Amino acid sequence: MDLFSQIEAPEREEIIALRKELEDANYRYYVLNMPTLSDREFDEKMRRLQDLEAQYPDMADKNSPTQHVGSDLAKKSDKGFEQVVHRYPMLSLANSYSLDEIQDWLRKLPTDVEIVCELKYDGLSISLWYENGYLTKAVTRGDGQKGDNVIDNIKTIDAIPRYLNDIPSNLEMRGEVLLPWENFERLNREREEQEEPLFANPRNAASGTLKLLDPKEVKRRGLTCFLYYMLGENLPADNHFDRMQTAKKWGFPVSDAIKVCHSLDEVNDFIRYWDTERRNLPVATDGIVLKVNNLKQQQALGFTAKTPRWAIAYKFPAERQLTKLRRITYQVGRTGVVTPVANLDPIQLSGTVVQRATLHNEDFIRSLGLREGDMVWVEKGGEIIPKIVAVEPSVSPRRYRDVTETLNGAEFAFPTTCPECGTPLVRMEGESAWRCPNESGCAPQQIGRIVHFVSRKAMNIDGLGEETIDLFYREGLLRNIADIYDLRKEDIARLEGLGEKSADNILAGIEASKQVPWSRVLFALGIRMVGETTAKKIARRFTSVDTLQWASKEELTAIDDVGDQIAENIIAYFLDIKNLEIVNRLRQAGVTMEDLSTGDTRLSDALEGKSIVISGTFAHHSRDEYKDMIEAHGGKNVGSVSKKTSFILAGENMGPEKRKKAESLGVPMISEDEFLAMLQ
Ligand code: IVH
Repeated sequence: MDLFSQIEAPEREEIIALRKELEDANYRYYVLNMPTLSDREFDEKMRRLQDLEAQYPDMADKNSPTQHVGSDLAKKSDKGFEQVVHRYPMLSLANSYSLDEIQDWLRKLPTDVEIVCELKYDGLSISLWYENGYLTKAVTRGDGQKGDNVIDNIKTIDAIPRYLNDIPSNLEMRGEVLLPWENFERLNREREEQEEPLFANPRNAASGTLKLLDPKEVKRRGLTCFLYYMLGENLPADNHFDRMQTAKKWGFPVSDAIKVCHSLDEVNDFIRYWDTERRNLPVATDGIVLKVNNLKQQQALGFTAKTPRWAIAYKFPAERQLTKLRRITYQVGRTGVVTPVANLDPIQLSGTVVQRATLHNEDFIRSLGLREGDMVWVEKGGEIIPKIVAVEPSVSPRRYRDVTETLNGAEFAFPTTCPECGTPLVRMEGESAWRCPNESGCAPQQIGRIVHFVSRKAMNIDGLGEETIDLFYREGLLRNIADIYDLRKEDIARLEGLGEKSADNILAGIEASKQVPWSRVLFALGIRMVGETTAKKIARRFTSVDTLQWASKEELTAIDDVGDQIAENIIAYFLDIKNLEIVNRLRQAGVTMEDLSTGDTRLSDALEGKSIVISGTFAHHSRDEYKDMIEAHGGKNVGSVSKKTSFILAGENMGPEKRKKAESLGVPMISEDEFLAMLQ
């Protein structure tokens, strides 16, 4: 027995290790929206775990990731969404990268079967509940059994009807929420400007967006949706294709890329056509879904714990190329984060030349075991940004020689000092980035901060572009943002390429910037993680720099979107004497450091200290307007009903779940008219 278990031990340990790794990957993918494994690696590991579990049935565990879908449920600590139990579990799809396997699947089906081919949209799944024609809930997949109701965010998507005449009284439409490529790229550009972490792909961006608590921001980002599955009672048609066509006629967004196929050849043609044509689509797709068309046949085939047996997904292989990692260089950003960059031998990938790729941080490099000189696989799949996915050991010579004698392969070591200014780098607990702490003396940080300060969405100083700032920096005219207001005409006019006229222009832009409102000045200061939207929210609560300077962590985190980290960054900013000096100089120069329209935004304290849930539809104002009103009168709008809720602003068609919960907790419900009267 002992010998037996010793022989088996490695696989048994592998099962345990794989389960842990896959659970962790699920969490990173679905909750954090920051995947570390590529889809393919994830699928391969899942496949390996399935095989091992089949070999060792005594190790079966219903909690294994092979037995349940990954969960996107918001963390408990998140202020958040109502959790809703699915009427029908929300499952996943079996998938394969191999056309042979797809053929095997087809061959095992009854011979008279019709197959519907559709695109596999790469977003996140959503279940839309229609009751008596009204869209009443929009539930994420969650853990497959229960999900988050993100209805307010879903209502920002124009393509999704809020009411339809003549549809079954209990209808559930399922589909995929997506962020179109164009909007994804714009969002990432904005995030890059603000040095916020980029989304790896449109799926992560869509998922992060759908879980925001601010529908206005969701609307601004511009989600879209395609529906591909109908559930409920008294549904039309006896096959999937006809149901989808009926759904389209009713007014639902159903894709035209759908075809009934009668042979393997037809299926193959569909796959081949869309493998290239999908590049012209406005949204991300990662494969083709094959579904048995006839609903009776579907029923007969049934489901496994995780997936229907009547459907399978063929996943497009990501485009990969092998190339040489020549050198790792390091970039210092505006906030001092040191980012390693891979400099590659140029390769052609999905129509573009790739010669650089971000290596994110030290952990990323170590997890791949990268060293300069390695041959590496670069992939461009769902991601628009190329990334290094693996080292190819068979052609990376250092693996076979003593590393000390090779040209390449020096043991990787992250720099300990800033490549720009030589200051020792620091790494905060819990952060993956190394940072240069020399905020006020490190050139790229100083320049970056000034560039950010003058940018369009911040102080919008015309005439002061990046090149000019660079030049002023080299000339010693600018070291920090306050120096801008000390610039003199004669200093500017004497510089090469600039004359009196440019100098006048620049000075006029600087003068005009003194009128920029407080919320944008706050954004312009460049406090870490305080982006444009967050700055607006903070400025609404703290209407001057003097009040913000003394804000406590509790007061700060009470603001929507301000978590512990942002609050700590703000506090740290105002604890630094150098920053206080800068703020003082800005104020003396005449820059707006308080909300001059204070009286307009804070109308009264009528709702001071009250937590208010808005539910249902309203006659006089939109939900967003009510949200603004609550805040303007000192209250707080929260997403879900709890013991702490002061009251519910209840409109028409309030969700039955919310009503039930409010009744059981004894939370009062106030009508629209009563609410307006309260504010009179
Ligand atoms: S059908 C019961 N059709 O892929 C099965 N799913 O990897 C219902 N997906 O969770 C799903 N495009 O989010 C179906 N045309 C399509 C799809 C699709 C994308 C997603 C869906 C599912 C995931 C599985």
